[in-house]
Amino acid sequence: MLHFTLNNGLEVPAVGFGTYKASRESMELAIEAGYRYFDTASFYGNEGMLGEALRKSGIAREKFMIASKLWKADLGYTSTLEALNRTLEALGTSYVDVYLIHWPRPDLSREDWKELDRESWRAMEEMYSAGKIRALGLSNFLPYHAENIMSCCEVKPSVAQMEFHPGYTQTFALEYYRERKIQVQAWSPTARGRVLDDVLLQELAGKYSVSAVKICLAFCVNEGVMPLPKASSIERLRENLDAMNLTLEPEDMMRLENMPPLGWGGEHPDRERVKI
Ligand SMILES: NC(=O)c1ccc[n+]([C@@H]2O[C@H](COP(=O)([O-])OP(=O)(O)OC[C@H]3O[C@@H](n4cnc5c(N)ncnc54)[C@H](OP(=O)(O)O)[C@@H]3O)[C@@H](O)[C@H]2O)c1
Repeated sequence: MLHFTLNNGLEVPAVGFGTYKASRESMELAIEAGYRYFDTASFYGNEGMLGEALRKSGIAREKFMIASKLWKADLGYTSTLEALNRTLEALGTSYVDVYLIHWPRPDLSREDWKELDRESWRAMEEMYSAGKIRALGLSNFLPYHAENIMSCCEVKPSVAQMEFHPGYTQTFALEYYRERKIQVQAWSPTARGRVLDDVLLQELAGKYSVSAVKICLAFCVNEGVMPLPKASSIERLRENLDAMNLTLEPEDMMRLENMPPLGWGGEHPDRERVKI
């Protein structure tokens, strides 16, 4: 299985499973299909379900990688420690492989977000040293949010998660993280289906004899970005995992990188949500 190596030496599979709104059955099917990296969050309310599905598989805990996220309302030093403990308890595990701050601000009115993020990071660094977290991450942080952490941290972020798919690649953030050897992960790597009818995606699906979904996921992997697709049937799960084996020609990558903006999900760390 293709892997990416994080800046602290940890290896992650090139494709992970996204669990937002995923059923217990789809988690079990994902394990059966061969997924070993699972992206959850306290906000998703399914950490307990994921922990049970992983245990029920009979596969050893250390063969899986579990990522979870600190919710906005829990930013701050003590609340971060408490939130992580709740997450570990819900998952039924003594450590998470990756722990990310889900969003940089509790809400738009809070002007003390920089301090809150730093306090959360300090708590996460302590838990990293204590072996309760194997890699630290940021989610939905634009470069200037990340700089707030980078300028004072003892442990560098290893992972940065953001919306990323053909037609919405946030290149400025991608380059920022790449330059700092921080692994980018793509959420909504298929834009929840919104981009699949695009003419270029359809053309490339025809050229490579695969689905447009697979082109989206292969685009991520070929960019060095780890996609976290969510899917419900064993066929889709297998197809998505197999996207790590599809190499797109440089010219096709260039066309995908430069296609017109398309399919933004409507969420931005510094703006009210836009309904799409
Ligand atoms: N950090 C954040 O703030 C954040 C935000 C959003 C998402 N995420 C993470 O990213 C993960 C993925 O994002 P997402 O669920 O928004 O979007 P997504 O993975 O781009 O899209 C999921 C949708 O695509 C469908 N699909 C998947 N594989 C398919 C295939 N091979 N053929 C046809 N349709 C297919 C799924 O349908 P079925 O399920 O019906 O098969 C589902 O409706 C989430 O689960 C979560 O872990 C993180």
